[in-house]
Amino acid sequence: MEDRSPCAECEHTRKIFTFLRGFRLFSPREWGTGPPSTLTCVNSDAPWMRTARSAGLVSADGTVRTTIFAEMSALAAQHGAINLGQGYPDDDAPAVVLETAVEAIRAGINQYPPGRGFADLRHAIAEHQQRFYGLKLDPETEVLVTAGATEAMAASLLAFAGPGDEVITLEPFYDAYAAVIGLGGARHVTIPLGEPQFQPTSAAIDAAFSDRTRVVVLNSPHNPTGSILAPEHVERIVALAAQHDAVIVSDEVYEHLVFNGRRHTPVAATPGAAERTLTVSSAAKTFSVTGWKIGWVTGPAALIDAVIGVKQWLTYVNGAPFQGAVAAGLRLPDAFFDELRDTMQRRRDLLAAGLVDAGFVIAPTAGSYFIVADGSDVGLGDAAASARSLAVDPGVVAIPLSAFGRAGGTVSDTALRFAFCKPDDVIAQAVTRLQSLRR
Ligand SMILES: Cc1ncc(COP(=O)(O)O)c(C=O)c1O
Repeated sequence: MEDRSPCAECEHTRKIFTFLRGFRLFSPREWGTGPPSTLTCVNSDAPWMRTARSAGLVSADGTVRTTIFAEMSALAAQHGAINLGQGYPDDDAPAVVLETAVEAIRAGINQYPPGRGFADLRHAIAEHQQRFYGLKLDPETEVLVTAGATEAMAASLLAFAGPGDEVITLEPFYDAYAAVIGLGGARHVTIPLGEPQFQPTSAAIDAAFSDRTRVVVLNSPHNPTGSILAPEHVERIVALAAQHDAVIVSDEVYEHLVFNGRRHTPVAATPGAAERTLTVSSAAKTFSVTGWKIGWVTGPAALIDAVIGVKQWLTYVNGAPFQGAVAAGLRLPDAFFDELRDTMQRRRDLLAAGLVDAGFVIAPTAGSYFIVADGSDVGLGDAAASARSLAVDPGVVAIPLSAFGRAGGTVSDTALRFAFCKPDDVIAQAVTRLQSLRR
């Protein structure tokens, strides 16, 4: 049987507790529910602690913090700050998408959908992959609807990486990856992305792979840096994944937010990749419905079956009335996708110019919702402290880039991530506020 005894520290506290109780020096009520238990021991390897630790949420004193996103959003609300922290748009979804969902609720599409998702949405996802990227998928066996990209990533990682395995991600990384890798008990290995282009070196890619590599997580366009992984790096990673028989999980939620006249290329379109790649995306960023949590994962039938093996015990299914609405969205004409991209590119340019004007040094954003900016020249030092002070004065919320990296890792501790998925006037107001830093 698994050893679930408390750690030495908890055991010591428990003995003191029992000793003092023997002398009736206090009643259990005075010490809450009693001595620390194995379940809540901060030094334990309980799955929830492993998850919190992997996500960098455990403080030196053992307390578990809330995420930086929750903290900064609360600060924004408290101080009336403009929230360029969390990546959610203020825009609404196209009318046809909203109306289809409303009609579905009224028509009684409110019960469990099939385990893989409604056929209509699976077909729409397959049509979308063919229309934009020329990728052919069987909607019956190679497409799975999930509770957002988050569940698709979690189920994919938990399906393939456990104790003794290694999972590679780029660094900085979207925070959920680290948490789920920790939950599964695998080791997290990273490929650092160097500033200001946020591309890896070939040497760093090579160094990340080992005989234990089971999964490689890619994310391009990239959160938090806005970079797009250069094709030669993708090719090298695909070749190494093949050599080590690893699965590639490619998070492409920003696939329709690629700027400067470029087009998105899915990792699965790289020669040799399709047979080992799970491609993850979601309705959240493309249709501005982050609260709906409709995502999907596509790939070879055997890999999808493995992901279902986990996914069916997480949420089983979700979002019945939203699935048809997302299918309608995916079938919208090209003009919708072009306009979305052009609008976000304009907002990127607005924020970029404003940040430069306010004295920040910015990294180029090729895609996604985000600009990385360094405020050292206007007297901002440590980004975690600056983010907290900027929220109060001048009242703009950003996220320290270090929140997307590991303690002692390679991520800059002076850079901030700003989101530009906000209306033009909100960005203009934020920029005006930030300009006060120059004075
Ligand atoms: C890279 C990346 N992956 C996944 C997600 C989550 O997507 P969803 O809301 O569909 O779960 C986000 C949201 O910010 C993201 O930035």
